[in-house]
Amino acid sequence: MRAWQGRDVISILDFTRDELEQLFAAAEEMEEKLSRGKPPRLLEGRIVALAFFEPSTRTRLSFEAAVKRLGGETIGFSGEEATSLAKGENLADTIRMLDSYADLIVMRHRYEGAALYAAEIAEHPLINAGDGRQHHPTQAMLDLYTVRKLFGTVDGLVYGVLGDLRYGRAASSFILSLTLYRPSKVYLISPRLLRVRPEVRMVLEESGVRFVETESLEEVLPELDVLYVTRIQRERFPDPQEYEKVRGSYRVTLDLLERLAKPDLKVLHPLPRVDEIDYRVDGSRYAAYFLQARLGVPVRMALVSLVLGVWP
Ligand code: NCD
Repeated sequence: MRAWQGRDVISILDFTRDELEQLFAAAEEMEEKLSRGKPPRLLEGRIVALAFFEPSTRTRLSFEAAVKRLGGETIGFSGEEATSLAKGENLADTIRMLDSYADLIVMRHRYEGAALYAAEIAEHPLINAGDGRQHHPTQAMLDLYTVRKLFGTVDGLVYGVLGDLRYGRAASSFILSLTLYRPSKVYLISPRLLRVRPEVRMVLEESGVRFVETESLEEVLPELDVLYVTRIQRERFPDPQEYEKVRGSYRVTLDLLERLAKPDLKVLHPLPRVDEIDYRVDGSRYAAYFLQARLGVPVRMALVSLVLGVWP
């Protein structure tokens, strides 16, 4: 097992299952300390840069909450228009500057590969909070943590990942993360236009995880333990007409779940939701997406502490 300290977090596949289990053990302790209202001030005197070139609510604010709960400080921006990039500065210069102001950089950017590029420039560790449609490793970490909390394990369950598997980085990273475990089966449920990308399919094939691609949620719903729903990533479609073809093509309703799902099925969603989960599902036994969003804080507290070498 490699030490966590000083590591960049670019893809969920940079980590082994044992390393993730170490993270989850730390997250459990953070959760417990949070619930007692006594999180340790591990980050006193540390500054974390939150460089969000793309919109974000949960990811940015949960990183910010995580750092502040631990007594650290954050600097940063949301949206490129707020930075000197709008004046023509290049990304490399922006990163060099952040690197000289902070002990750790958390970055989200619309280009695939931007996080890896920035990590090569920065001397301090860099955490990828989403690069285009490619990776969203910290989302996958909290997704796995949520499943583990709900079911006691990630192994042996039947998963359905529904929605935009082509442009969705949260879905891609979650699917990749399952290859580090032993799920019983993974259904990739999407309209044909939004099927999983070849590089993700290749990792699945090589991992030996049993997976099936389908367009029909109804057919596979009775088998599922976990249904991971994602929104159609409208902003990533190169052609608005392509978006029109798939818009509104799936919707999870309470009626559908009551009719077909196992009573213990749990519905996850990285959020934001648009119209793919009916609001009536929110108060039902199936909904786990608000719990999932809440767990982002202890997981990111654990992650930042491990990467900065202040835990255990
Ligand atoms: C996701 C993202 O930004 O990739 N959101 C998130 O971080 N929770 C999913 C999305 O935008 O649909």
